[in-house]
Amino acid sequence: MNLGRSVVAAAIVAGTMGIGAAQAQQVGDVAAGRKLAGEWCSACHVVDPGATRGGTDLAPPFATLAADPRTTEFRLRAFLMTPHQNMPDFRLSRSETDDLIGYILSLRRP
Ligand code: HEC
Repeated sequence: MNLGRSVVAAAIVAGTMGIGAAQAQQVGDVAAGRKLAGEWCSACHVVDPGATRGGTDLAPPFATLAADPRTTEFRLRAFLMTPHQNMPDFRLSRSETDDLIGYILSLRRP
C-alpha cells in the first residue's frame, strides 16, 4: 500500500506549486510575518493597514499591495526571491518568505 506516500507527495506538489493556494490556503505564519515586516520592511513600507503614516512615498503600503488583484502568492514570491533596485537584498529564508507573503495576503479584504 502506497497511499501514505502519495498523500505526502501530493502535499509537497501542492505546496511547491501553490496552485490557486493564494486564496484558498493560508501561506506561512501571519503573526510571524507581521513581526518580520515590522522589523525589516517598515522603514520603507507602511506594513500595518491601520497606519496612515510612516514608510516612504516610493514604497507601496502592504495594504495597497494586498488590494491589487495582480498581487498573488506567486508574484510576491518571485519578487522577494530576486534582488531589486530600491530595495535591499534581504536573503530571506523560505519560511521567512512564506510568513511575509502570508501576512501581506492576510491584509486582503474580501
Ligand atoms: C529600503 C527601502 C525598502 C525596504 C526596507 C523594503 N522595501 Fe519593498 N519596496 C521598496 C520600494 C522603493 C518599492 C517600489 C518598487 C520599485 O518601484 O522599485 C518596493 C516594492 C515592494 C513590493 C512590490 C512589488 C510589486 O509587485 O510591485 C513588495 C511586495 C515589497 N516591496 C516587499 C517588501 C518586503 C516584504 C520587505 C521587508 C522584508 C520590503 N519590501 C522592504 C523599498 C523597500
